[in-house]
Formats: sequence, structure tokens, C-alpha cells
Amino acid sequence: MGPLPVKGNEIRRNRSQERSTPLDSHPSAVTLPGLASTAKTSHRTAPPCAFVIFGASGDLTARKLVPALYNLDGQGLLPDGLAVVGVAITEMDDESFRQNMHHATKTSAEVENFQEETWSAFEKRLHYITGGFDQPKTYDDLKARLLQIDNDFQTCGNTLYYLATTPSFFGVIVGMLGELAMAVPRQQGSWTRVIIEKPFGHDLQSAAKLNDEVHSVFLEEQVFRIDHYLGKETVQNILAFRFANSIFEPIWSREHIDHVQITAAETLGVEHRGNYYETAGALRDMFQNHLFQLMALVAMEPPVHIDGPFVRDRKADVLRSIVPLSGDGVGLNTVRAQYEAGEISGEKVDAYTVEPDVHPYSQTETFAAMELSIDNWRWGGVPFYLRSGKRLADKRTEIAITFKSVPQQFFNLGGDETINPNVLVMRIQPNEGILLTLGAKIPGPRMVVRQMQMDFSYRTGFGESRATAYETLLLDAIEGDSTLFNRYDSVELSWKILAPVLEAWSVNDPSTPLAKYPAGSWGPTAANVLIARDGRAWRNE
Ligand SMILES: NC(=O)c1ccc[n+]([C@@H]2O[C@H](COP(=O)([O-])OP(=O)(O)OC[C@H]3O[C@@H](n4cnc5c(N)ncnc54)[C@H](OP(=O)(O)O)[C@@H]3O)[C@@H](O)[C@H]2O)c1
Repeated sequence: MGPLPVKGNEIRRNRSQERSTPLDSHPSAVTLPGLASTAKTSHRTAPPCAFVIFGASGDLTARKLVPALYNLDGQGLLPDGLAVVGVAITEMDDESFRQNMHHATKTSAEVENFQEETWSAFEKRLHYITGGFDQPKTYDDLKARLLQIDNDFQTCGNTLYYLATTPSFFGVIVGMLGELAMAVPRQQGSWTRVIIEKPFGHDLQSAAKLNDEVHSVFLEEQVFRIDHYLGKETVQNILAFRFANSIFEPIWSREHIDHVQITAAETLGVEHRGNYYETAGALRDMFQNHLFQLMALVAMEPPVHIDGPFVRDRKADVLRSIVPLSGDGVGLNTVRAQYEAGEISGEKVDAYTVEPDVHPYSQTETFAAMELSIDNWRWGGVPFYLRSGKRLADKRTEIAITFKSVPQQFFNLGGDETINPNVLVMRIQPNEGILLTLGAKIPGPRMVVRQMQMDFSYRTGFGESRATAYETLLLDAIEGDSTLFNRYDSVELSWKILAPVLEAWSVNDPSTPLAKYPAGSWGPTAANVLIARDGRAWRNE
């Protein structure tokens, strides 16, 4: 059979014909080259499976996972043969689990227009068993329940484990699944997969150790390391923007691009997460996963196919090409800072050090900025400036690509003013969209040039986005599509880039002092100095 036709302008990742490369290799995943590159147009048809959630009484399950499954069911995207088994230490039976999840889903920000009728059908899928993650009995009970569910729902022996619990249990649960032979397919032709929540490790050593533990039980192709950022429509659109349009690729390089800025700014402080944040900080919380993944998507070479292994290979290449920040490089190219009291939207807010569960002399950074270089043919000499912080002046995540200036300034703007270079901004959130600044003549008899903006908004272009990040990612994992999940090498490469920075910051290296910034500002002066020394400025407008 020949390739399927492409309907209209729809571009879909091919989900049924995943091919392998050495890094994701598994003999059964190989298909003939060239057969699978054409976009699939049919609706997704997810296979049946038992969806086991370790940590089913926790916050993530209630706020994200069950609402996402409910939404998918409401859209008819779950197969009849899908059943959920929640596992956690809190004593509950199926009925009380269903009641709790009913309340959580009804009040979830992820669910628009909750329907009791849809819920009544959905809740029949929900089951619960009580047990400690380190207790063999929990897994015996789970095995028995999976057998029963196989029978009742025809899940065909397929099992997807979701580790929605504290990271200290990731290794424990994986180890128990291995010991009790629950990581292997339960019957001929079935599959077993595991989704692992973030954070994946605390540093390079712990991430490598966790990868070893996971790989001692699961093959890499069974492992789905989730970063909900990658499920956002606007993040996926970076791939579409770059590879569904022919006009950008020829200018997507050092020939035409002056520099790239990636900003993830929040106006919120640490809220109730002081305990966690004290051990993480902005670098671990935002750079290792979200910012580096955005950078990889912007900078990657075109993949052979727009499928899991191929996209992940090209993203890993970017991380592999980052020039290491060692020795003086850390002090010269990074900035860390912490917010002091200030004002946001007219309201006074406290300093980080007086937030609940934060040490009064805390040295944890709530802001980080760094300049990185990608040492390859496409990006040699193009700086990438990354920054992220809490309690900043605005809430926004965006990628701003600044092109080179025109070679000759024809137009007299008056004084020392020159025409600004073009900037392409991918707004990841909020106000999702794409903005391009252009020089244009102001209407009138004189030749006066000013900057104008072409502004595309997703909301006006496509209406409100329906799929939440978790819906996209859960369905991908059920279907075995790993494109938007992190592979072990990318995780370790990201930690490796950060290792010298974490090391210098942990010993309070005098070349990298912890600066302060008032809440409601755009961060410390040192961050402005970092970019200004190259004759550039952060995009704060
Ligand atoms: N919450 C979010 O919005 C969010 C967002 C992104 C990523 N994540 C990640 O998702 C994971 C879960 O986060 P969370 O906020 O849901 O955590 P959580 O609310 O603390 O939930 C932890 C779950 O693990 C269970 N548990 C703890 N110790 C156990 C044991 N010894 N035996 C059996 N069950 C045990 C808890 O059961 P009991 O309640 O019965 O004690 C609970 O169900 C974390 O890795 C987090 O980083 C969370």
C-alpha cells in the first residue's frame, strides 16, 4: 500500500509507523524507510490498556491526570478497553476514589463544561488499590486487579504505569516492577510502558543513577519521561512553524540571525512550594527541562522524519553541541539572583526569604540568566540568552529571534536612531501567538520609516485551544509516540551543561554572587550587564 494522502494542510506526526535508530532501537519497531513519512490523516485510535497511576491520591492525579483522561473520553478518544487503576497509601475503595475524582474533575481548571452524563460513563473505568510502594503485597494486589481488569475491559494485556509520586519513589517502584516481573509484556503481542514525572534527577549523578535503575528493568523505548511543557500547543507549533513553512529555513542560521533570547518569566512567587523550591531553584526548576527543550526545538536540524526517535536525535545533537561553561565561563556567562520585597500589579509582595518554608538566609536563586553558544555550522557565533525568574514584571514565556540589521541605513530617522532589526517572537504563553516586527513607511508625503508588528494570535486564528498538555501527552504515551517525551541522553546532556554552574553556585563561588532584584522588576542589573556587554538588550516590552 502506498503512502496515505495528506488531507488539506494537516500535518500530523505519524503515530503508527514509528521507526527506530540505534538509540531507541527495538527490532519490532523497524519499518521500511520511506514508507512512513507521509502524514496520517485519520483520527487517533488509541489501543486498549490498563492505565496504572502510582500516587493516585495525590495532587497531580486530581488536578491533571484524571481530568485529562475525562476530557479525552468526552471527545471519544479513549478506547472502550481502557481502565485506570490508582495505587497509593491512603485507604480507599473504588467508590471513594471515584467520588474524590468526581469532585476534582468537576472543579478542575482543565475541564470546560463538565457533563454528569460523560462522568457516569467515565467513572466505571476508575479503580483503586491501597498499598505502600515498597510493599510486595501492593504489587501482588495490583497483579490480581490487572488480571480481573483484563477480563472485564479486554485491555489485551497492555499496561501503562504512571509514576505520579515523589521522585524518591521512582527507583523503588521501578525496582519492584522489575523484581515481580511486571515490566515485561503480560501476554504475547502486548506492551508495557512507564511514564516518569519530573524532576528526573537532581543533578547529573542522580539522573544517571535513575536512568540506570530504569534501564535495568525497562528498555528505553518503554520509557516516557514527561515534561508537560512539551505538550503545549505552542511548543509543538515550533516544529510546525519551522518545518511546515519553506520561507524560514533558508534564513534560520548564523548567516541571518544575530541572537536568540528565551524568556520564561512569572509574576508569582513560590506560593506554597517553598519546601520544594529551596532544594531546586530556578536552574533546576526551569532550565534543565523547559528552557533547554525550547532551545533544542528552535536550534535543531531538520529531522529525517517528524517522529519520536528522529526528532529526539536532532534535539540531543543541539544539547551535545553546547559549549561547556567551565572555569571562568560560569562567572562570565551566568547570573543568579533572588527577589526582594517589591510591588506587582500595585500590590506589595514579600521577599523570597520571608516566604513560608524558606530559610531566612536562603541562597536559592529565584532568577537565573545565562549566555550559551552552540558550536555547530548553523549556530557558530550566535549567542543564545536564556533567563527565567519568579516575581518578575510580567508573566510570559517566549522565544525571540533577532535577525541581523540591514547592511546600509538608507532611511533617515532623525538623530542617532537606526532601523531596528527584525524580531520574530514565538509567544509560548500567555497570548499564544507569533509576532514579527518589520520596518514600514508611515503613510504620508515624507519617507519616514518606523517599526510595525505583524501579530498572529492563536485565539483569534483558531479559537480557544482544546487539548491541554496532559491530554496530548497521555494520548501520545498510550499510542506509543515518544516524540514529545525526553530521552535519557537529553536528560543527562542537560544536567551535564548545568553541572559546572550548579557546582559554582553551591559553593558560593565569588565570581557568581547571588544578586538581588525587587519583585516586579525584570531581574537584577547583572542580567542586563550580561547581555549589554555584547551590545544587546533583553526584550522587555
Ligand atoms: N502537582 C502538580 O501539579 C505537578 C505538576 C508537574 C509535575 N508534578 C510531579 O508529579 C509528581 C507527583 O506530584 P504530586 O504533587 O501529585 O505529589 P503528592 O500530592 O505529594 O502525591 C504523592 C502521591 O504518592 C503517594 N505516596 C506517597 N508515599 C507513598 C508510599 N510510601 N506508598 C504509597 N503511596 C505513597 C501519596 O499517597 P497519599 O496521599 O495516600 O499519602 C500520593 O498519592 C512529582 O514528581 C511532581 O514533581 C506535579
